Amino acid sequence: MTAHSHKKARESTDQVLPFAARHNGPTPADVRTMLTTIGVPSVETLINQTVPEQIRLSGELDLPSPSDEHDALEELRSIIEQNVEARSFIGQGYYGCRVPAVIQRNMFENPAWYTAYTPYQPEISQGRLEMLFNFQTLVSELTGLPVANASLLDEATAVAEAAGIAYRHHRMKRHTVKIASPLHSQSAAVLATRMEPLGIKIAEGEPDEDTAAVVFSWPDTFGCFEDPREHVDAAKKAGALVIVVTDPLALTLLEPPGHWGADIVVGSAQRFGVPMGFGGPHAAYMGVSQPLTRLMPGRLVGESVDARGNPAYRLALQTREQHIRRDKATSNICTAQALLANMSAAYAIWHGPDGLRAIAQRAARYASRFAESLVAAGFELVSDRFFDTLTVRTEGKAEDIHKRAHDAGYLLRTIDRDRIGLSFDETTSEADFQALCEVFGIEATDAGDRGHLPPQTRHEAFLTQPIFNAIRSETEMMRYLRKLADMDLALDRAMIPLGSCTMKLNAAAELAPVSWRKIGNIHPLAPKPHSTGYRKMIADLESWLCEITGFAAVSLQPNAGSQGEFAGLAAIRHYHASKGDEHRDVCLIPSSAHGTNPASASMSGMRIVMVACTEAGDVDIHDLKAKAKEHEDKLAALMITYPSTHGVFETQIKDICEVVHDHGGQVYFDGANLNAMIGLAKPFDIGADVCHMNLHKTFCIPHGGGGPGIGPIGVAAHLKPFLPGDPLDTDSNAVAAAMFGSASILPISWMYIRMMGAAGLKSASQIAVLSANYLAARLEGRFDILYRGHKDRVAHECIVDTRPFKESAGVSVEDIAKRLIDYGFHAPTMSWPVAGTLMIEPTESEPLAELDRFCDAMLSIREEIAHIETGEWTREDNPLVNAPHTAVEAVSWEHGYDAMTAVAPTGPAQLSSKYWPPVARVDNVFGDRNLVCTCPPIEQLAS
Ligand SMILES: Cc1ncc(COP(=O)(O)O)c(C=O)c1O
Repeated sequence: MTAHSHKKARESTDQVLPFAARHNGPTPADVRTMLTTIGVPSVETLINQTVPEQIRLSGELDLPSPSDEHDALEELRSIIEQNVEARSFIGQGYYGCRVPAVIQRNMFENPAWYTAYTPYQPEISQGRLEMLFNFQTLVSELTGLPVANASLLDEATAVAEAAGIAYRHHRMKRHTVKIASPLHSQSAAVLATRMEPLGIKIAEGEPDEDTAAVVFSWPDTFGCFEDPREHVDAAKKAGALVIVVTDPLALTLLEPPGHWGADIVVGSAQRFGVPMGFGGPHAAYMGVSQPLTRLMPGRLVGESVDARGNPAYRLALQTREQHIRRDKATSNICTAQALLANMSAAYAIWHGPDGLRAIAQRAARYASRFAESLVAAGFELVSDRFFDTLTVRTEGKAEDIHKRAHDAGYLLRTIDRDRIGLSFDETTSEADFQALCEVFGIEATDAGDRGHLPPQTRHEAFLTQPIFNAIRSETEMMRYLRKLADMDLALDRAMIPLGSCTMKLNAAAELAPVSWRKIGNIHPLAPKPHSTGYRKMIADLESWLCEITGFAAVSLQPNAGSQGEFAGLAAIRHYHASKGDEHRDVCLIPSSAHGTNPASASMSGMRIVMVACTEAGDVDIHDLKAKAKEHEDKLAALMITYPSTHGVFETQIKDICEVVHDHGGQVYFDGANLNAMIGLAKPFDIGADVCHMNLHKTFCIPHGGGGPGIGPIGVAAHLKPFLPGDPLDTDSNAVAAAMFGSASILPISWMYIRMMGAAGLKSASQIAVLSANYLAARLEGRFDILYRGHKDRVAHECIVDTRPFKESAGVSVEDIAKRLIDYGFHAPTMSWPVAGTLMIEPTESEPLAELDRFCDAMLSIREEIAHIETGEWTREDNPLVNAPHTAVEAVSWEHGYDAMTAVAPTGPAQLSSKYWPPVARVDNVFGDRNLVCTCPPIEQLAS
């Protein structure tokens, strides 16, 4: 190549748009149009008017210069290549499994599934609600308990959640949890972290009148099954609940614990088709007995009916979102693991009950054969009752055997100098078996059919529901997944302008690494050198997040914002205790706070004191000062969301932090709204001591229809010693089962920051603010914008007041939200933080054309309201109260307005690519009165 052709080639690549220009929706010309509409000369002026001067960052963030998609992927690949993919037999809660390709392609890697939001708007979420309903049915069938939720964060937190139920069930009057058989270390550690602030003791031995629950693992962490009846009888005698932690694959062969006395059953659905991923994300599951239904954490999908009497799914009972009950909640869980639960449900559908049993029997047979071979060679097993996991006594040869295994490419579980553990799974092959025999120096025997399962084996048929038996061909499976995806409105179809949720682009290049083998196939307890690549990526991400927020350290362990809140408050509590101030237990929380804030404070054993907000939505600084003074000796923390839940940058934020510090408290920042701030201001500089970030908002991890998420916390230097530690260590403050939580989705945020660079990230914040102000400017006059900052600007979201329409036209906020579906939109956040309002967050990723389509829809809806106000349409029969309109309704029209107005309000052209909601408005009350949360079994259908 000549120098000239080199130059030409470079010029032509330079013309390729940088990633930031792809990530941000508006073009430079669009930006100019938007600025004109708002009436400001430049983006800088707008930001100066929006972000208070006292907190505004002057320089640029110190981040690596942006890389394009290809180079960033290559760079990450070269890092991740440093991971070592060995054959893992470690077990201990994480097992090899095969993700069926049809699920990998059509669900896991399909934006129709992963970019969907939590199904709060049921009419546009029937597909994912149906799959979560299948998941609940699966859990109920396996556990033998009538009610199951739509996933929890991981097995360890699920154990803690179960103990939380028991505590609430006993009205917080019993203060001991008895452990009757050894749990996995990570579950024991998280349970300890979570019980400590509530003053609940964890002990062994006989249950008594102070025992809230008896917890046992069946099989235990060493793979052994004890007779559960003894524990159940003792618990029942003491009036304690029975919590069983168990393996879902084992339950395909065993009698469901609900049938022999368990009140709560929890575990991890990871081995149902979700890669180990260095610890997560995976769906944990929970089944409970009927009386515990209302105490259950997480989300519960229930069947109800729509306005036309047709069956429809919805999130049942508002109490299923425990955090809505604020300080009365049993749990703070909001984001859970919907996408992973859906993958596990799809895995069970794909294999069906027979396939699942075959997978289980195969693993069990390998374990049996290996056990026989070991015993024949003179080894001793710690138990003769097991499923797929063996614990072998080696008479001091453990180190030697580990070394041989390692050299042969196998990983076994390290227990101590004598004992070794090994778990067989779906991926075990005969070659593995023979290689392991060599590692142990034993002869392979074939005599492995002797039963080693406990006597409680499953005799009855299970998963008899048609959905688990009807689909066997890949064609049917592909079409079923497509059918469900088509029922839903996700980010791949339209803007999802949900305030406080930041539904921004989840770019394909960010998502691609999540499917890499060296991301998926790494066991979280593999020897450290096997995760060198992971650790390098994690170190990068931690340092970048520190730079972005100004904090001294970051922990990536919390696997949702709620868990970040708990971890952050734990750091604050331990910091106070380290200074002899353990009596500091008052947490100030503004009345506008998200429900997870008081729920987390309450789970942290803190006393919540509400701080009033002014009419303008800001924290009432006088009330704050008064409350801080009143509780001066006891003040632990203030939890504050910034920019505020009302969508403004409060100018007094530095004063607020100062008041709290002056009275001995720490400032906890809820960073859910960080998308307005990156590159413009830093939480630490403002005065925060700790802040959680929602990587599933600001840093592009998709919401997955209700999870996964990651809620890392950043802390100032003085809180660093109190960050969550290694979950293998009981006193580590661990808040999740794995050290790096949901590690396998961290590449998404790594790629985002790497491709955006400092200037790109700053531009994203600027465009997010610009877009929100553009919306406010366009809607202004026809709708009231409820709150604005000091120079009349909103931050990255704005609240539209719809309350006046109730009186003027009988139209509720819900009517407007549902009518937006007819226009092809997911509604903004409804009735939070202010009842009767819509909180709109456009994000930076929406092109101007889409912002305009949304504004046009809102303005058109306002016209429709005017038709009701003038009496042209009646209050009882109009396109708003009847929204959304289905295709079925359109062909049997029976309303006093025309069908085209109803189903194609923007004109006939809409019909060519219209999103049709599969159900009409869902009746919430009916569903709660007639709670149905699992598919009926075939016998019931027949009758
Ligand atoms: C302001 C605020 N705080 C906390 C949370 C909780 O985050 P997560 O759902 O990740 O637990 C949310 C979630 O939407 C939120 O909007």
